[in-house]
Amino acid sequence: MKIPLMRKAFLREEETKKALAAFILTADRLSMDIECKKFENKFAQYQQSKHAVLFNSGGSANLAMLQALKNLGKLKEGDKVGFSALTWATNTMPIIQLGMIPVALDCQPDTLNTMSNHLLKRLETTNLKALFITNILGFTGDVDLIKQICEARNIILIEDNCESLGTELPEGRTGNFGIGGSFSFFVAHHMSTIEGGMVCTNDDDFAEMLRIVRANGWDRNLTAEQQQKWRTKFDIESEFQAKYTFYDLGYNFRPTEITGFLGQYQMQFLEENITKREQNYLRIEKVIKENSDFVHLKHDHITTLSTFAFPLVCKTPELRKFYLDKFTEAGVEIRPMIAGNMQEQPFYKKYVTELYDMPGANMMHANGFYCGNYPELLEEDLVVIENLLKK
Ligand SMILES: Cc1ncc(COP(=O)(O)O)c(C=O)c1O
Repeated sequence: MKIPLMRKAFLREEETKKALAAFILTADRLSMDIECKKFENKFAQYQQSKHAVLFNSGGSANLAMLQALKNLGKLKEGDKVGFSALTWATNTMPIIQLGMIPVALDCQPDTLNTMSNHLLKRLETTNLKALFITNILGFTGDVDLIKQICEARNIILIEDNCESLGTELPEGRTGNFGIGGSFSFFVAHHMSTIEGGMVCTNDDDFAEMLRIVRANGWDRNLTAEQQQKWRTKFDIESEFQAKYTFYDLGYNFRPTEITGFLGQYQMQFLEENITKREQNYLRIEKVIKENSDFVHLKHDHITTLSTFAFPLVCKTPELRKFYLDKFTEAGVEIRPMIAGNMQEQPFYKKYVTELYDMPGANMMHANGFYCGNYPELLEEDLVVIENLLKK
């Protein structure tokens, strides 16, 4: 592949691998411990959130957020949870897995995202208890307005920010608009820890429950004060007994110290990486803007556009076929526009009966695709992509 989706597992790969090898050789402990905590603290500071809880993947982070909201009594089985129809499978699957009802919201092709008007339209006929919105490929919609609507109607807003680390609006960073936001550190994402995920939140109770959900339902990773609270509530008198007391439903979603080490190391290069991605996108966008075969994406409302990829939406399926063939022949790796309209996915049809009209997501399903955007793209790679985007 001439231009793969992603060239390296890490930013500054060689240096990172050497540092990782040295870390492993000298580390006393490799299961979740101090390196994970240090990464959480560093990430919370970057994201400007009070808490960050590290997980073994972004998908685990998503499932843990919904489980934590259930454990806290904020969501229950049978509740309707809205989600962006254009998203990733493990954004939507946890809604079904936890016995709640997913309600798809459409997305707008020229922003890629669910907008406040989609939410308002759905609310005319359906009550939502929560909205689990996704910020797509580094882009986002009018998420501040969505937040205001959710607050006014008592809808719990959760953000899947796995594709949009670093994107900023005048009102703040994506991932900070709801009770919690998830992040993924899988290889092809903005920053990699091989596998890994995070939840950021300003809510103390939510952060505490996420730590319980992450590790078996026990209290080992809580503060001494929090542990005391749980132990008193359930009459757990000894440390011995506390070791194997399980307070609420959880999983084993723990990261390792390798995740924690890599996260801290990669964060050194994060800002530079985001700037490069934005520069690359703005350069490629100039060519897209000259070509009427493509929908021109809007991002005037976004102050930092931390793109995950080069998202491309053609005007017709025939045009998409034309460009898919061109990209494939040139050896540029491409992907569909994430899961397209999620309602069309086999698992969704198996478990969900209530389907909605999705003109925007269907259009992107039929007409969209993307190729990789990352800091290691060379000048010659960018020229290849620019030429492919010309008529
Ligand atoms: C929007 C979104 N949510 C969740 C995930 C899951 O992240 P992970 O692969 O770390 O489980 C992804 C992965 O690509 C994603 O794009």
